[in-house]
Amino acid sequence: MAKINILYGSTTGATEAAAQQLATLLGAEAKPIAAATADDFDADLVVLGSSTWGYGELQDDWVAGIALLDAVDLTGRKVAVFGTGDSVGFADTFVNAIGILADKAIERGATLVGQVPAVGYSAVESLAVRDGNFVGLALDDTNEADQTPDRIAAWAKTLQASL
Ligand SMILES: Cc1cc2nc3c(=O)[nH]c(=O)nc-3n(C[C@H](O)[C@H](O)[C@H](O)COP(=O)(O)O)c2cc1C
Repeated sequence: MAKINILYGSTTGATEAAAQQLATLLGAEAKPIAAATADDFDADLVVLGSSTWGYGELQDDWVAGIALLDAVDLTGRKVAVFGTGDSVGFADTFVNAIGILADKAIERGATLVGQVPAVGYSAVESLAVRDGNFVGLALDDTNEADQTPDRIAAWAKTLQASL
């Protein structure tokens, strides 16, 4: 069975809850990035999660998390990204953090999987949207919480198909 590790940063628990739902669906381990070590990147698929704070910035725990990413070689490694944001209150920086994580993973040599068409979302301005796709799973528990379970379930299938 493929080894999938989920590493997330979450301040008020929304991204943590999504990480745990994903972990259950994927038979994966979910761990806060604050508790992660380089060994946690040794998996068939590494899933990185962050909410977006400030004005389009990574969740706080990812400051140390980025330093950890900078110290590991992700060449040939499959990486997927996800996160929660607020597409109404922050319509021009919606889930920017997952765009930052995707760029960092690619810079470290990873192959990004799990892109999601940006249809059905209200926000159009985001660092996380490239050519009409989100770089990963975008969740909005502030305005579209009712869609979160289905979005997570569909994404879990996408990730399984990428293995
Ligand atoms: C001060 C503040 C700044 C925020 N900035 C953004 C932002 O720039 N973009 C965005 O999509 N969401 C933003 N949000 C919304 C959070 O990302 C959202 O509430 C998220 O679900 C929190 O997830 P967490 O509980 O996992 O940390 C902001 C929220 C607050 C309170």
